[in-house]
Amino acid sequence: MTDASASLATSYRTHTCGALRATDVGGDVRLAGWVHRRRDHGQLIFLDLRDRHGITQVVIDAADAPDAHAVASAARSEYVVMVGGTVAARLPGTENAKLPTGAIEVQATAFTILNEAKTPPFYINDPDAPVDESLRLKFRYLDIRRDPMQQRLLLRSRLVQSIREVHHANGFVEVETPNLIKSTPEGARDFIVPSRLQPGSVYALPQSPQQLKQLLMVAGVDRYFQIARCFRDEDLRGDRQPEFTQLDLEMSFVDEAAVMDFVEAMTIEVTKAVVPDRPIQAVPFPRFTYDEAIERYGSDKPDLRFGLELVDLAPDLRNADGAPSSGFRVFDEAIAAGNRVKAIAVPGLADAPRSRIDELTETARRFGAKGLAYLAVEPEGTIKSPILKFLGEDLAERLAARAGANPGDLVLIVADTTDVANDVLGRLRADLGVRLGLADPNVLAYCWVHRFPMYKWDEEGARWDATHNPFSGVVPEDEVLLTTVSGDPTRPSRDDPAGRARAMQYDIALNGWELGGGSVRIWRRDLLEQSFALQGYSEGRMRNMFGAILDAFEYGAPPHGGIALGIDRWAALLAYQTNIREVMAFPKTQSGNDPMLDAPSEPDPTQYAELGLKFVGLPGKPS
Ligand code: AMO
Repeated sequence: MTDASASLATSYRTHTCGALRATDVGGDVRLAGWVHRRRDHGQLIFLDLRDRHGITQVVIDAADAPDAHAVASAARSEYVVMVGGTVAARLPGTENAKLPTGAIEVQATAFTILNEAKTPPFYINDPDAPVDESLRLKFRYLDIRRDPMQQRLLLRSRLVQSIREVHHANGFVEVETPNLIKSTPEGARDFIVPSRLQPGSVYALPQSPQQLKQLLMVAGVDRYFQIARCFRDEDLRGDRQPEFTQLDLEMSFVDEAAVMDFVEAMTIEVTKAVVPDRPIQAVPFPRFTYDEAIERYGSDKPDLRFGLELVDLAPDLRNADGAPSSGFRVFDEAIAAGNRVKAIAVPGLADAPRSRIDELTETARRFGAKGLAYLAVEPEGTIKSPILKFLGEDLAERLAARAGANPGDLVLIVADTTDVANDVLGRLRADLGVRLGLADPNVLAYCWVHRFPMYKWDEEGARWDATHNPFSGVVPEDEVLLTTVSGDPTRPSRDDPAGRARAMQYDIALNGWELGGGSVRIWRRDLLEQSFALQGYSEGRMRNMFGAILDAFEYGAPPHGGIALGIDRWAALLAYQTNIREVMAFPKTQSGNDPMLDAPSEPDPTQYAELGLKFVGLPGKPS
C-alpha cells in the first residue's frame, strides 16, 4: 500500500496504530482506534489499540494518569477510543516481534471514549474463529473489521489501482457507461427498472457494457476501459453473483493477436504488482484452440497446474480393419457407434478402497456418464480390474500404458459420446487434481482458449445460439460459412454451414476458472444482421434490440475487439479464495439476499402507485 507515504494525521490522531517504531521513543503522540484486547491488572491497564493499519499497545498506569485510568477502566472490546501519551520502549523481554509496533508502547496520559460498542456477535480479534457465514453477512461491517477481510479488500483495491495504471500507460481512456440502459444479452435474465416518467416502460441494468463500448469505438475513442458493474439475474455459484464487476476494455484497429498480446502483458504486469511473490506458471501463456482444450482437458477453462490429461484409447481398441476388438461390450459398442473411449491416469489411487471407487463412479454418473470403468496398476505393475476378464492382461497393460499410467495409478475410463466423455473426464480431472493436492495452490496458471465455435444449434428454439457473445466476429476464412445459407435465408436451419464457423473469440482461464472472455467483433452491418438472423432474431426484434449499433455501423465503424475480465474472480484467485463473496464488501447470499440491508424487500405501496404497478403474484406464490 501507499499508506506509508501518505499523512494520515487528523485532529484525532498524530499517527495510525501501525506507525510507531523504536525511533519514535520519547515522542508525544495521539492515537485513535478500536479496543482490540484489554488486560486489566488493577493499577495497570494494557490495551491493544487497533485500526486498519495495525495494533499498538497502550499502558494506562493509575499512579501516573489517574483520570485516564478511570476512563480506561470502563473501556471494553470494540469501544472506539482516543489516547494521548508518550512513546516508550517496551521492557526487555516484553517486546512483540510479531507486531511491527512491537518494540514500543504508548504510556497514556489522556484517554477518551469516543463511542461505546455492544458485545459483537463474533470475535473480531480472532481471525481463525469459525463464524457462520449468514452471521458474517448480516454483520458485514464487523466481518470487514476482521483482519482477513481487511487484507482481501486491500488486495482488491491494489488490483484495481494497478489495472488503472497499466491501462492509462497504454493509451486507454476510462469512460463510464450508464447503468439504466436497454437489454444487452449475455446469456442471463435482465434486472429491470420501471420508469416513472414513462409508465409501462422499463430500463434494463447492463449484463455488460458490450454495445456501449462498441459504440465508443465507432465514436473514435480508440482504446476504452472501465471498471464496470454488471448485473445478471442467474443462479448463483461460488464464482457468480447477480451483481459483479468487470474490467471491460475495447480497442480499435486490432486483430485477435493484438488484443490477446495486450491483455496478456497487462495481466502479467498487474499480477506482479499485486502478488509479487506468487509464481506465474508459464509465460507466454499457453494458447489452445477450443477443440484442443476440450480434447486434452475436457474443459474450455483447463487448470494447468497439473497434468492428468485425457487420453483417447481408441487406437488400442480396434483391429487392423478398424473393427472393435476389445472384447468388452461397452467399449466395443462405443467404438462401433463412432463414440469415444477416453481415460485419465490418476496418480496414487491404485489401492483406493471399493467405497472410493463407488464414490468416483457416482460422481461420473452425476456428471452424465452411464458408468466408469477402471484399471488399477499395482505397485509391481500388474493390473487389477473388474473388466480384466474381458480385455485380457495384454490389452489391459497396453491401455494403461497408453493412458500414461505408472505403477500405483488408477486409470479411469469413460465410453460415451464425444461431448459426454470429455465433459465427465474433464470434471473428474478438475475435481481430483485439486482434491489430491496435485495443484500447487501458490502457482497462477493463466492460459488462453480461442477459436470457439460461433454457434450451437438450439433444437427447441430452432436457431443458432451464439456460444459466447452475439457480436463476436467470425474467423476470416470461415466468413463464407455465415453468408452461405441453406434453404430459407430468414429461417435458421440445423444444416446451415454456419454451424461449422469458428469465432474470433478468446477466453482467458486461471487455475480452472474462466477469468475473462472477449472477441474481435463483427463491424459490418450486413454481416451482423446475418449473424443475428442465424441467432433467430426477426427483423423487427433485431431493430428493437440492436437498432442503435446496426445504425452506427453505417457511419464508419472501425475494426475493433475487446474483452472483459471478472474482477471478483481475479481478486478471489489472487487471494487464495474459492468463493468470490470473500473479496466483495457486500455480496449477496446464495438466494440473492443481502441479510444486512434486508434486500430485496417489498416496495413501499406509494412506489408501486407512482409506477402504476401492482404485484399480481406468480403461479404458486401468493400475491
Ligand atoms: P462474459 O459474459 O464472458 O463476457 O463475462 C466476462 C467475465 O465476467 C465474469 N463474470 C462474472 N463474475 C461474477 N459473477 C457473474 N455472474 C459473472 N458473469 C460473468 C467472468 C467472465 O469471464 N461483454 C462480454 C465481454 C467481451 O466480449 O468483451 C462479456 O460480458 O469472469
